[in-house]
Amino acid sequence: MTVKALFEPFRLGNLELPTRVVMAPMTRSFSPGGVPGAQVVEYYRRRAAAGVGLIVTEGTTVGHKAANGYPHVPRFYGEDALAGWKEVVDAVHAEGGKIVPQLWHVGNVRKAGTEPDASVPGFGPSEKVKEGTVVVHGMTKQDIDEVIAAFAQAARDAKAIGMDGVEIHGAHGYLVDQFFWEGSNKRTDEYGGDLAQRSRFAIELIQAVRAAVGPDFPIIFRFSQWKQQDYTARLVQTAEELGAFLKPLADAGVDIFHCSTRRFWEPEFEGSDLNLAGWTRQLTGKPTITVGSVGLDGEFLQFMVNTDKVAEPASLEKLLERLNKQEFDLVAVGRALLVDPDWAVKVRDGRESDILPFSREALKTLV
Ligand SMILES: Cc1cc2nc3c(=O)[nH]c(=O)nc-3n(C[C@H](O)[C@H](O)[C@H](O)COP(=O)(O)O)c2cc1C
Repeated sequence: MTVKALFEPFRLGNLELPTRVVMAPMTRSFSPGGVPGAQVVEYYRRRAAAGVGLIVTEGTTVGHKAANGYPHVPRFYGEDALAGWKEVVDAVHAEGGKIVPQLWHVGNVRKAGTEPDASVPGFGPSEKVKEGTVVVHGMTKQDIDEVIAAFAQAARDAKAIGMDGVEIHGAHGYLVDQFFWEGSNKRTDEYGGDLAQRSRFAIELIQAVRAAVGPDFPIIFRFSQWKQQDYTARLVQTAEELGAFLKPLADAGVDIFHCSTRRFWEPEFEGSDLNLAGWTRQLTGKPTITVGSVGLDGEFLQFMVNTDKVAEPASLEKLLERLNKQEFDLVAVGRALLVDPDWAVKVRDGRESDILPFSREALKTLV
């Protein structure tokens, strides 16, 4: 088996990646006060130095009071946090790597009591009241405009500090996805209705980001069928519906789709082997990133996002076959790279037996 295809450069406009290996965004919660420090700089630098062509940072919150949902998540606003990210960018570039921040708003999963302002509840497409208390504030038109402006500002700041693009987090049941999903979007105004209408928020957001950064700055859009609230949820049932869903997003300014699945080898629709990234590439003509259990086996596969039974083990050979057929362009790796910063070079050099095995301890440190 030749792994060469993973280590070919990739080019899209001004974006030139040294390899096809992408580090998947992974929340690590090692940024007290929302500021990424020296440890975070070193964490990303090590991966850039070891064969990762593009780093998508952990989710980093845009400058809106309800964007954050968890402790110690880095901000992407404020001078202190942006100065920290600038250090990360410079370190990654010094190693010849590229990096984009994943811009995040958690929406209705935020709980009151969370930093930075404990009094702010979750903000979502639709209000939620529990025992007489508003636990999720249903967003007004003004809230929508403010959140969109926060994403646009974050993208502008990303460009200003030298990031190589941005990734908009439109997946996994967070704010952008909450608008897509009928389970969480019950609105009766122009942001609710059928999937095309529920996509309006994302479309306006992408358009605003595009206007903020100009025509040449890469915008990656991450989406998923699954939600952290429901792994079996599906936004679309057929390839035709997928095409209809993605086209307006592409037209709004997306350059690359990051198609979040839990297992890369699973066909998305009956009657074809193509996975979600394969279909997305075919339907939109845009480059795509695949993801899901690359380089994992055994206990690792069962961990976190893969809690149910796995019918078939992940195989690098199968991934390479798909990559060689140009089913997708780039391959994101999450957990394998979290545990072993040198995963990519070990694969490149045929040193699989040196790859660090799964360890829950790895999650507790930033190596
Ligand atoms: C610890 C951890 C944190 C994660 N945080 C994020 C995140 O901030 N944003 C996101 O889009 N996905 C996040 N994910 C999902 C990963 O990006 C990736 O899609 C998932 O882990 C599947 O890839 P893998 O099988 O290679 O790990 C996270 C996954 C893990 C394990």
